[in-house]
Amino acid sequence: MSPFHLTRTLPEDATGAALRADVLDGLTRTPKTLPPKWFYDAHGSELFDRITELPEYYPTRAEREILLGRAAEIAAASGARTLVELGSGSSDKTRHLLDAMPELHAYVPVDVSESALRQAGEALVAERPGLEVHALIADFTAGIRLPETPGPRLVAFLGGTIGNLVPEERAAFLTSVRALLAPGDALLLGTDLVKDEAVLVAAYDDAAGVTAAFNKNVLSVMNRELGADFDPGAFEHVALWDAEREWIEMRLRSRTAQTVKVPALDLAVDFAAGEELRTEVSAKFRREGVTAELAAAGLDLTHWWTDAEGRFALSLSVAG
Ligand code: SAH
Ligand code: TRP
Repeated sequence: MSPFHLTRTLPEDATGAALRADVLDGLTRTPKTLPPKWFYDAHGSELFDRITELPEYYPTRAEREILLGRAAEIAAASGARTLVELGSGSSDKTRHLLDAMPELHAYVPVDVSESALRQAGEALVAERPGLEVHALIADFTAGIRLPETPGPRLVAFLGGTIGNLVPEERAAFLTSVRALLAPGDALLLGTDLVKDEAVLVAAYDDAAGVTAAFNKNVLSVMNRELGADFDPGAFEHVALWDAEREWIEMRLRSRTAQTVKVPALDLAVDFAAGEELRTEVSAKFRREGVTAELAAAGLDLTHWWTDAEGRFALSLSVAG
């Protein structure tokens, strides 16, 4: 009997209803915008995995370096019997952590991508007999309910995914994570750090065009799910560094004046030539900012580790 459980915490149609609401809201405002979670259908999750292997995309390698070097320390500091991972994706780097936690009872990966959860979960139960894997299909920004598993809990949020939330969303998110933590539990947070602009921009605009394909995948999701007629070729991938907000901004720029139909919403959307749709931000952090944002949510930073080049940080914090 396989100890792999997959729980859908959303009603069957919640994803469709949420997509319709987000697209209607995002495409009728100025400037146009879309929330990033819609990148990750099965194809999007696959494209993201290819991004993590690109020479320009350093965050995955930098975070892996820290995890490899510090997994034993993290495991000892947390003493966790349950590892919860938000936005777990392929759970690939997480294996370094799991390897350092032989006493772990349960792993709870949480993701909107059912395909990623299935693949990662099924591989893990095969590799680690005895480890209970309880996967949750859920939106981590919507407040999640965790299964009853033994504490202490370590909640991991890796990949710099917190940077894909804007500051107000981050504050609400961290407050909701704080509420999940009992005394003795901890949060392990991966944050990409501010660095040279050219390095940052290249990481989000690679030479092989994989990031461009990933960005445009959101158009295919709307075509498939909402019957829209976006022509991906009519949009250009744009990645810009906003030095004031210290985030990378991903956009899709309309190459021409065009009208796109979205039948499921009974909507026709006009794009001017050169008009941009904002699809994603990826905020970059400094230690002071991370410490302050955690503190504002009632979390005390106890550890801060970076890779040798100081590109990426992992922090551990506890409920204050
Ligand atoms: N942790 C992995 C994957 C990062 S990519 C790594 O470090 O490589 C971001 C992951 O978060 C994707 O798997 C995506 O499906 C998931 N995700 C994005 N927004 C989400 C949301 N609102 N709720 C749950 N999962 C989300
Ligand atoms: N969490 C990743 C990051 O901000 C997500 C990501 C990487 C991404 N490349 C992207 C999102 C390109 C949209 C487009 O680094």
